[in-house]
Amino acid sequence: MPILSIKTDKKNINVEVGASIIDVCENEETSILFGCRDGACGACMIKVVDNPSNLSKMEDHEKDFLETMAAREDERLACQCKVLGDVTIEVSE
Ligand code: FES
Repeated sequence: MPILSIKTDKKNINVEVGASIIDVCENEETSILFGCRDGACGACMIKVVDNPSNLSKMEDHEKDFLETMAAREDERLACQCKVLGDVTIEVSE
């Protein structure tokens, strides 16, 4: 079972392979905020600290949005990410 570590909250959460971060956050109290839940508002921007390849691949619309926001390479939209293996994230400043 993969571990989703949320550095900002000092939490290590066991999740099913393929669990979406948004579903995990609905069951746990975390600092990750969600708005549109559809990759269109940027409220859920996270920084991937470790093992970025253990998140689901970026779809075009997430990529386009992050480019528009001039996001850094280690940033993702939490509402668009599924956990495939151990990964560490934090809330993006
Ligand atoms: S909640 Fe709006 S982009 Fe993720």
